[in-house]
Amino acid sequence: MTESTRRDFIKTAGVATVGTAALSASTYAAVQGANERIQVGVIGPGGMGSNHIRTLGPQKDVRIIHVCDVDRTRLATAAKNAAQDGREPATTTDMRRLLENRDVVAVFIATPDHWHAPASILALDAGKHTYVEKPCSHNVREGRLMVEAARRARKICQVGTQSRSTEMNMTAIAMIHEGAIGDVLSVRVWNSQMRTNIGRQKPTDPPKELDYENWIGPAPMVPYQTNRVHGRWRWWYAFGAGDMGNDGVHDLDVARWGLGVDTHPSTITALGGKYFFDDDQEFPDTQSVIFEWPRVGKNNQKKQMIFEQRIWTPYKMEGYENGCAFYGTRGMFIVGHSEGWRLYGPRNKELKTVSGGANLLAHHRNFFDCIRTNRTPAADIEIGHLSSSLCHLGNIATRVRRVLNFDPKTEEILNDKEAGPMVRRTYRDHWGRPRGV
Ligand SMILES: NC(=O)c1ccc[n+]([C@@H]2O[C@H](COP(=O)([O-])OP(=O)(O)OC[C@H]3O[C@@H](n4cnc5c(N)ncnc54)[C@H](O)[C@@H]3O)[C@@H](O)[C@H]2O)c1
Repeated sequence: MTESTRRDFIKTAGVATVGTAALSASTYAAVQGANERIQVGVIGPGGMGSNHIRTLGPQKDVRIIHVCDVDRTRLATAAKNAAQDGREPATTTDMRRLLENRDVVAVFIATPDHWHAPASILALDAGKHTYVEKPCSHNVREGRLMVEAARRARKICQVGTQSRSTEMNMTAIAMIHEGAIGDVLSVRVWNSQMRTNIGRQKPTDPPKELDYENWIGPAPMVPYQTNRVHGRWRWWYAFGAGDMGNDGVHDLDVARWGLGVDTHPSTITALGGKYFFDDDQEFPDTQSVIFEWPRVGKNNQKKQMIFEQRIWTPYKMEGYENGCAFYGTRGMFIVGHSEGWRLYGPRNKELKTVSGGANLLAHHRNFFDCIRTNRTPAADIEIGHLSSSLCHLGNIATRVRRVLNFDPKTEEILNDKEAGPMVRRTYRDHWGRPRGV
């Protein structure tokens, strides 16, 4: 699609939704009726998108009225699973049709990462409240454009890091912020689990049910390979953010939250690579990244975050598969992803242990409550952008194997001809290509 056709679509979508697009969320309840169901669309009902459909189904004040997937087989399954009161939602393989549907008030986007920003920006520009999966972006620049799109549209934009709405995490972070372990200057994050080998494959024709042209979207075109698409795209530079942006981002986000840093780090360094898997995946299976913040927070102190990743280790670290350990001047707080937490005082005295799981439903409810009340959601797009950027910057530092100096204001890597351009990506001419990339 040329720029002008893209603009025409936005214009049409804007006209179609003019009633809601022009409204701030605070007027939502008044216009739609506080007790009316919020009508949603789901874009990309694959693995996680199906999970969203399962979680949305029983919510009495929500109705799924439109689903979109470029894979017709997945689309048909999603429509069946999304049926409520015996009614299946409308289906499409083209997200623009769903975004033109003026009855869709909010969208859930669970496509591969390379589509997160393009789809979210289109959705926000069409006046839809947007829940987008993590990492919210494929690169740093896209994240900033998403923040701008959400503010421009005055719509809620929630990122899918559900720990932000999970009670056990909220309690742990509140305790850390209240000084349970003293001053916290350093946090260690880990992603330690056993992943699978994606093999080495040759290009073939895409299957008939898949619109591969629009699966690729605005990313540069490459030939179809089965280990590039469904579920395995995350190991390719063009489509994903490796496991740092996949499972890692959940705990990097909790770590940044607990550390109390609401800006980007200014220094990043890393080492890593493929030490274990002999296959097509491009991202490292072994990775150590260090981030440093210069004098931030209420005590104006330097802070450090260390990220460790081994995706060939079938055992847990610190009792948790993934998690983060906050180091304070008086104690230590170990927070496991989806598993619980443990608080230690001086001399390793175990003071408190909590078990539990991540609460996806609570994150949905937070999104819908914010739509109805115009509050800022728990994982607002600005939060998602800062945490996703840790993954992008960590992956860039791992690729170039040196210290990066990052300007948190301009969001550019300084004085590095190779790493500098990696905060952005190249796009092909496609209707999904965001403006300003
Ligand atoms: N929050 C969580 O705990 C959690 C857990 C798992 C995955 N995720 C996130 O969910 C997202 C999806 O991951 P997955 O494992 O389900 O991937 P997946 O490949 O199984 O699903 C993605 C789906 O998007 C569809 N798709 C691709 N391009 C599309 C387009 N242009 N329009 C409509 N549909 C399109 C694909 O056909 C596929 O069905 C990722 O961003 C991932 O990080 C989040």
